[in-house]
Amino acid sequence: MKRALLLFDTPVFHPRGYEYKQEFREDDWMTEDEVYRALKQCGYEVRLLGLHDDLSVLFEEIDHTSPDFIFNLTEVFRQKTHYDKHVAALLEMLEIPYTGASAECLFLCGDKGLTKKILRFHRIQVPRFYVFYRNQRVWLPKRLRMPLIVKPLQEEASRGISQASLVEDEQALIERVRFLHDHYHADAIAEEYIDGREFYVSILGNRRLQVLPVREMKFGQIHDDEPRIATYKAKWDYEYRERKGIKNVFPGKLPNGLQERIEETCKRAYRALNMQCYARFDVRVNAQGRIYVLEANANPCLSRYDELAESAVKADIPYVKLIQRIVRMALKRT
Ligand SMILES: Nc1ncnc2c1ncn2[C@@H]1O[C@H](COP(=O)(O)OP(=O)(O)O)[C@@H](O)[C@H]1O
Ligand SMILES: [Mg+2]
Repeated sequence: MKRALLLFDTPVFHPRGYEYKQEFREDDWMTEDEVYRALKQCGYEVRLLGLHDDLSVLFEEIDHTSPDFIFNLTEVFRQKTHYDKHVAALLEMLEIPYTGASAECLFLCGDKGLTKKILRFHRIQVPRFYVFYRNQRVWLPKRLRMPLIVKPLQEEASRGISQASLVEDEQALIERVRFLHDHYHADAIAEEYIDGREFYVSILGNRRLQVLPVREMKFGQIHDDEPRIATYKAKWDYEYRERKGIKNVFPGKLPNGLQERIEETCKRAYRALNMQCYARFDVRVNAQGRIYVLEANANPCLSRYDELAESAVKADIPYVKLIQRIVRMALKRT
């Protein structure tokens, strides 16, 4: 029986061998709990390890239990998003197969500016953008057209994105960038706002890629003068989603070759960014049918109720099979 180590992040320190019984009953831990159960259903012997701010537990665990592979659900270390790539780098140096994106891929995709620079090189369309690092002058580059959306350069889950992220003039741009610099302690990226439909495209694979059925975010009752963006609230506040009629759905087959173009674009982007195992793209399509990649998500959420798993089920890959496939891909990679 193969030994699995399920690795994830924790908001406080827990020692090796801690069982997470209480935590796994809570909503915040749903993904860890679901992956844990799925791994057991696949027949693996599973140990749990949470990382907070101490790496010695990882080294000790590996010394003592020599797992055959690590299922990597780590998104932060010391509660910092951008440390995710360092955790993957450590796993790589330990030479134990691990699931999901490599450290290099997390590095490229963790920076929304860098991702776009690479995609543009490969002639994949992205919104025009400018990166404002902290301690640099904030100004309006001439080639950018309003409105712009201002985001933290290295965040996810729409943290730092609200209706105020959409700016119509230079003054508002400067204020929002400074807000991210000063209050968020984050570098910022300003992108041209792409008005249009928003799709989520999940892909599985190392070499041969499978694009799963596309999902769409429907903005429902949002008033015409309110921007249609997936803010933090629009993604995670269930009461707000209900009130505004915001829903994520399967739009069905998209007409006029759009489906095929989206699939082709996202496959090219997946390869350009050297993604592996599984990933999800956030894309927008404007009224003229032009496809823009907004974001490449390496190691996107694997909850049963998130986009990737929902799309997998639609493609006849039930959850346990999905987790099994991810493990197989990780084992094949070495
Ligand atoms: N250039 C853009 N044009 C239009 N909407 C955007 C743009 N960039 C981001 N958004 C909106 O903001 C949401 C979050 O942005 P994204 O770059 O995916 O960051 P996160 O990593 O927080 O998910 C998107 O799902 C989309 O609704
Ligand atoms: Mg996103």
